Amino acid sequence: MIAIGSDHGGFSLKAEIIAHLQKRGFEVKDFGTYSEESCDYPVYAKAVAKAVVSGECEKGILICGTGIGVSITANKFRGIRAALCGDCFSAEATRLHNDANILAMGARVTGPGLALKIVDTFLDTPFSGDERHIRRISMIEE
Ligand code: RB5
Repeated sequence: MIAIGSDHGGFSLKAEIIAHLQKRGFEVKDFGTYSEESCDYPVYAKAVAKAVVSGECEKGILICGTGIGVSITANKFRGIRAALCGDCFSAEATRLHNDANILAMGARVTGPGLALKIVDTFLDTPFSGDERHIRRISMIEE
């Protein structure tokens, strides 16, 4: 199950990502927002982060205007490694090296075509499992 959430700035990109993921056969849980009315991004970032920390959802996707507010918020949660990505190289590297469990994107920064490719790269890339990366990830939580 993939958790997804956005503020008003990411609402329309969120809808495109949900449709894309459902077409690919993923189960998606939409934590809102549900309209383009102005709202507060921490509400949705916290909901998605909690769903990932609890294990209810295996990964999360968060979108706001820049991707910055949602990633700052999600990274406050112990066990969350939220990566703000605007390119496929970073999306692949953050899965391989950081075992990132939330992808954050900025809908006012990254167009929908690229955003869908970033989503696919993020979800299709496994963690490398390399000892040095496991060591570095555990150091984050120390
Ligand atoms: C909303 O205007 C905007 O501040 C928000 O989407 C996000 O970019 C915050 O980091």
